[in-house]
Amino acid sequence: MVIKNAVLPVAGLGTRLLPATKCQPKEMLPVGKRPVVQYIVEELERNNFERVLLITGPNKYSIENHFDTDADLIRHLRETKKEDLLAELEFERSKLRFFYTRQKLQRGLGDAVLHAEEFAGNQPFAVALGDSILGMHAGSRTLSFMRDVFTETPCAAVVAFEEVPLDEVSQYGIAEPVTPPTDGGAFEVRSLIEKPSVKESPSRLAIAARYIFSPQIFQALHVTKPGRGGEIQLTDAIRIMIDGGEKVLGVKLPAGERRYDIGNFESYFKAFIEFALNDPEYGTELRDYTRRLLNEDH
Ligand code: UTP
Repeated sequence: MVIKNAVLPVAGLGTRLLPATKCQPKEMLPVGKRPVVQYIVEELERNNFERVLLITGPNKYSIENHFDTDADLIRHLRETKKEDLLAELEFERSKLRFFYTRQKLQRGLGDAVLHAEEFAGNQPFAVALGDSILGMHAGSRTLSFMRDVFTETPCAAVVAFEEVPLDEVSQYGIAEPVTPPTDGGAFEVRSLIEKPSVKESPSRLAIAARYIFSPQIFQALHVTKPGRGGEIQLTDAIRIMIDGGEKVLGVKLPAGERRYDIGNFESYFKAFIEFALNDPEYGTELRDYTRRLLNEDH
């Protein structure tokens, strides 16, 4: 079975990043040189997906514009002898086919994914959250691995997890694995616990913004009641599948691969710094600058 479809929810209000997100989507905030959502689209392309459905909402037009071919801009760059900058627009030639739909009310990530029901049909599909980059410069192959796991083992979902420090578990959905995960392997998930305290946390495995689902997820979403914040939570729908006897597997991000969460300022700032310091053109100079800055502070 070839899984070609991916769903990219970008409709959230991004209130934790106000005022930056008052009039622009958080998914368009730059991390280094590119907006967040461009890394995710590049990741999907590298992992050989063919069609992507973006679930958009109010104030998200710039995302659609970003992936269009801008003929005027290309002409302007040519006429003003700035052809070298055309390389920066290479992403416009992505082989992915783009589809868009709008989430009318921001009723949570689960509700956003429900908007993909017709797009997915009876085929399994991937979900990649629009505010999380996997791996430096979107080089992650984790979705391909998850797709292989899904194809080889009968299951309803494969979910990516990142091992986080114990004092951070209360920020994430955490897995209770049936058996401890091994590096490079998949493990069965017994349960998922949303934002547990350090004491009650069954592991340090935090849901990491990438999923492969069978279309069964839609049945679960249809019966998922609004949870935290009055929103339909995707995690609750996965739990409904597990409670109904479906198998859900987890995959741990490989050593050295990080999830860069852009959803709050602390992790956004960290992501920006790390990507900028690793920029092939400006990284070296920026490292010297940062060292000088930090030395001046002491
Ligand atoms: P978050 O869970 O961070 O929610 O979204 P949010 O509403 O964007 O942000 P805050 O909490 O107000 O700061 C995770 C992903 O799910 C999408 C977001 O766009 C983001 O990519 N999302 C979230 C939707 O598409 N629709 C929603 O109703 C909520």
